[in-house]
Amino acid sequence: MERPGSVDLMAVVNTVHEPWSPRTVGTVNDYDVRVVRAHGEFTRHSHPETDEFFLVLTGSLTIRMDAGDVALSAGEIYIVPKGVEHQPVSPEGGTILLIEPTATVNTGDTPSELTAERRVVRGRPTGSP
Ligand code: NI
Repeated sequence: MERPGSVDLMAVVNTVHEPWSPRTVGTVNDYDVRVVRAHGEFTRHSHPETDEFFLVLTGSLTIRMDAGDVALSAGEIYIVPKGVEHQPVSPEGGTILLIEPTATVNTGDTPSELTAERRVVRGRPTGSP
């Protein structure tokens, strides 16, 4: 069996120019690890079935919620509880790492023009440069 290679997160992000279009870079049991470029305003939505984990890798992200906004900088995490309406926004732009079940759709219960298919990026084969 071929051993999966490592994944350079920023190299993956740098191949994706459109914002809010996540790439799955790995799976942990039933969960996806995804990276996404954030810029501007995303669709307000909720995930009735699951929490959603955010880690800001670069730049910044604000998660708007009825209970108040959460402003995140690089190196900060936030977990949106399941069922909670949230709208990620990033006026200055940023890159985000997400952890959520593989079946999770980015716009949750609110399909929009920003709804994205699950797209998986394979790591480089072990030993390649
Ligand atoms: Ni969400």
